[in-house]
Amino acid sequence: MTRSLCALQPLLLAVSFLSSALAFSPGFPYGSSKVRGVNLGGWLVLEPWITPSLFENTGNNNIVDEWTFGALQSRSTATAALTNHWNTWITEADFAAIAAAGLNHVRVPIGYWAFEVGPGEPFIQGQLPYLNKAITWATNHGLKLIIDLHGAPGSQNGFDNSGRKVSTPAWHTNNTNVQRTNAIIKTIANMVKNNPNNVPIIAPLNEPAGFISSDMLAVTKQYWFDSWGNIRFPFGNSQQSNTVELIHDAFQPLSFWNGVLTYPQYEGVAMDTHIYTIFSVQENQMSQAQHISTVCAKQGSLSSFDLWVIVGEWTPAATDCAKYLNGRGVGSRFDGSFPGSQRVGSCNGQTGSASSFSASYKTFLRQFWEAQVISYEKGQGWIQWTWKAENADEWSYQAGLANGWIPRDPTSLKYPNICG
Ligand SMILES: *[C@@H]1O[C@H](CO)[C@@H](O)[C@H](O)[C@H]1NC(C)=O
Repeated sequence: MTRSLCALQPLLLAVSFLSSALAFSPGFPYGSSKVRGVNLGGWLVLEPWITPSLFENTGNNNIVDEWTFGALQSRSTATAALTNHWNTWITEADFAAIAAAGLNHVRVPIGYWAFEVGPGEPFIQGQLPYLNKAITWATNHGLKLIIDLHGAPGSQNGFDNSGRKVSTPAWHTNNTNVQRTNAIIKTIANMVKNNPNNVPIIAPLNEPAGFISSDMLAVTKQYWFDSWGNIRFPFGNSQQSNTVELIHDAFQPLSFWNGVLTYPQYEGVAMDTHIYTIFSVQENQMSQAQHISTVCAKQGSLSSFDLWVIVGEWTPAATDCAKYLNGRGVGSRFDGSFPGSQRVGSCNGQTGSASSFSASYKTFLRQFWEAQVISYEKGQGWIQWTWKAENADEWSYQAGLANGWIPRDPTSLKYPNICG
């Protein structure tokens, strides 16, 4: 007994040395440094409100998402418009500007159709080379890139930003859809498994609509477990990657996910939550002070959750006024043009070009921005939606920098006591 243990000693030492040498080591010090970043919205997944011109130039009001963009016009016209958009909407100069603004992360939404298109699906491909360029540009400028699967087969939420605007999302109702999504996550994990310093995180699915049904939540939960395996073990053996899985709360309170995918049984998981105070009639009726106190009140849940929490989408916008924000051709709750809403006021001066914004509105944008940055840094940090928009400067990080409501150094606050 004793002798055999002695014989094992060198082997045990070697094993413990190896396992410590191979210990999980993410490409960004999550847990000790704050995530500060922007989303590159409306680039590799179209959104009508981010680039209204792309949709209006089609001359067809029924083109409302990337699915109909491919389905309802000639393939060559659509391909030419998309290629021009991919080449111009985001370039390496944007990565340089994002890094110069003191940010450390970019989150890049991409749809399943960049990887694989099924029979009868009208999506146009060609996004993947731009994702690879983005990884190179992030590397060149010292930014960490999050690959975010923003649209899944069947649609996980029915939003236009899932690629397909539908009233009954079908991702979770059909196992083929889920299997196709798992295969894409394996592909992505394999693409980046040796590059955790530049692509430290994969978000396997944006905003699955957990509010639809308990079935949707059950499918989503299982998908987070399966994605953990796909992202953390991409080498085809027991070797772990250093890539982090960024799950989403599926619009449930964080407490719903207590104990799910937690250490020590699981390692390398972060939680993404999105905080908007504009997508209901009641929220559009809130005062500016109420918008600020609402986000300040998030601090407790963000700081106490059992996974790293990143607020992966949020905005200094305090109304739903941006044109097409609720869908192409759909109005806003704030001005009463959205079905079932009650007018609060005019959208003039609330959205569009910053040149139409009053000094007091710009002061509010700065205060609301700071209240959110302060609050979300009680968790692991934040990624604003979005870097740029054609005609909604209240949402644009780039416009905020240019017009003074976002500081050139995100730690340089004017209202450090805004949350009291
Ligand atoms: C399930 O989804 C796949 C595409 O992902 C489709 O081909 C198939 O027809 C769907 N099955 C049902 C029963 O809807």
